[in-house]
Amino acid sequence: MYEIKSLKLGHMDNFIYLIKDKKTSDIAVVDPAWDVDAIFRAAEEMEGEIKEVFLTHSHYDHVNGVDQVLHRSDAKLHIHKIEDRFWGGAGRNAKLHSGGDFIKLGSIELKIHHTPGHTPGSVCYELDNHLFTGDTVFVYGCGRCNLRGGDPEAMYHTLNKIGTNFDPSMTVLPGHDYASCATSTIAEQLQGNPFFNIKTLHEFVDYRMHKHNRSIPYSPVN
Ligand SMILES: [Fe+2]
Repeated sequence: MYEIKSLKLGHMDNFIYLIKDKKTSDIAVVDPAWDVDAIFRAAEEMEGEIKEVFLTHSHYDHVNGVDQVLHRSDAKLHIHKIEDRFWGGAGRNAKLHSGGDFIKLGSIELKIHHTPGHTPGSVCYELDNHLFTGDTVFVYGCGRCNLRGGDPEAMYHTLNKIGTNFDPSMTVLPGHDYASCATSTIAEQLQGNPFFNIKTLHEFVDYRMHKHNRSIPYSPVN
């Protein structure tokens, strides 16, 4: 029904994903950045055509290939409406979304989840049993909340929702390769990711904003 290919590109170990609907051969690129030639080569290898661009958020390392991809294809750009305002997506004529929207890719459909915290309009894209998490959930981590637009309280609530509402068997496909493995499951993250295991908002904010960045391991106080 569909095929997913990941590329690790750039000096920040970004994952760029290509999703192909096997019925129509339409391809969506999630967060095109760093090496647009490599992205088009991958699309060619998959024998498909890039028709959609899905952004998880607007940080430079996730969007620096957007303009080239739009220039070299007929792709339509998709972004959360809050993130578009935050980014100032000026003139790119993006399709603006809200959480809960469905986006078509050929004959398949993805669901958008608004997951603020890393940026105000960050989203995760759900496809079947896969969740493209951008910089919201990493394998055993989560996105920083101390950059412009970051909000650790929002991240706390976002992660609570992800942990509660998604099937534990879902595969997490993060925006960076920051761990010893490229992907994981919600279940593994619920068990081993410190950010899913901090019980109070206060502790979470303190750990995310102060301790984690200084590499102090989390040890729960009972
Ligand atoms: Fe980011």
